[in-house]
Amino acid sequence: MPNAHQVYQRVLQAGRAFLNRPEADDQQIASSLLGLEQAAFKVFTHQVGMTSTKHLRYTVLSLVCLEPPVGPLLREILADGASFAEVHRLLSRYRRRDLELVELQEAVRIGSWRSLLTPGQAQPDWASKPVWIFPANKRARRLEGLNPVIAEALIGRYSKPGALVVDPMAGAGTVVKKALEMGRQAWGSDIAGDGRLVRKMDIAGLVSAIGEEVADLLVLHPPTFAWFVRKVFDPSVHDHPETDYTNWLSQHLERALPVLKPGGRLILIVRPEHKPRRLIRQDGLTRWAFVAPLELLLSEHELEPLHYHLAVSEDGVEDWSIFVGQKP
Ligand SMILES: C[S@@+](CC[C@H](N)C(=O)[O-])C[C@H]1O[C@@H](n2cnc3c(N)ncnc32)[C@H](O)[C@@H]1O
Repeated sequence: MPNAHQVYQRVLQAGRAFLNRPEADDQQIASSLLGLEQAAFKVFTHQVGMTSTKHLRYTVLSLVCLEPPVGPLLREILADGASFAEVHRLLSRYRRRDLELVELQEAVRIGSWRSLLTPGQAQPDWASKPVWIFPANKRARRLEGLNPVIAEALIGRYSKPGALVVDPMAGAGTVVKKALEMGRQAWGSDIAGDGRLVRKMDIAGLVSAIGEEVADLLVLHPPTFAWFVRKVFDPSVHDHPETDYTNWLSQHLERALPVLKPGGRLILIVRPEHKPRRLIRQDGLTRWAFVAPLELLLSEHELEPLHYHLAVSEDGVEDWSIFVGQKP
């Protein structure tokens, strides 16, 4: 299925051919199409593979005709992957004066426009409750992404403006974007980074890239246990996926922790398995297999525990266990 931007381009291209005006610019094409007789407009609508003349008129062509300063910004957001509905939602927020032009410009500049689509849905005090029930954002959860509202709550709570926030498993860069929006400095890298906000780098290279004891806040959001079991765990070599996952996390932590300043904070965001499972026997003790090793892991790295948050999305699909510790 073509995305909204591809549809937008196809309409303009087909419009040029339909009107036989190959040299005309986008706005000229759109206003000529909007000026067509009803019957001709219907023919054109079907020609571009659409069924609704209303959709073409009020959703697609109206966007082409939107004047600066907001028009070009919204078209840039469309080109960045937004749907028509999302672009029009931003436009209505802007028209209601619920969204300032500078906010929109800044969000386009740093690529964080998606976060402008969610405000208002959260319960005002959700992050002050013992369990954070946060508003679901289906788009953000792709590839195990962190919901921007969680990133915002954590950065706001555990760092000050001007602080350096480091995220070496930054994925799509949610934490980096939020940190910059909130007046922090930010470093983001990921083994699959695309270089825009997030450099392509294995966590093993973090210390040589940024040095030791530079970060005020280190956010570590590693692949989940479920991902680990699917992609890394090899039953022919390992017995206990949980133990092996914990060791794997421990290695990542060892690689990243030297960048944290003394007194700096670590936020570890994980998704334990909640299914009842086999217990591990170790040193005569029976432990529940997953959470205990993770807690152990933090204590082994000599971090003072500060807080533990459980964050669950309103629709129950996402849950994150968030451990916060401080480097002595
Ligand atoms: C849970 S996702 C992080 C999602 C991110 N917080 C976001 O909101 O988009 C875990 C990330 O760890 C990255 N990763 C896995 N192994 C890595 C390694 N050795 N070094 C750096 N990044 C790694 C993956 O590419 C993935 O993007």
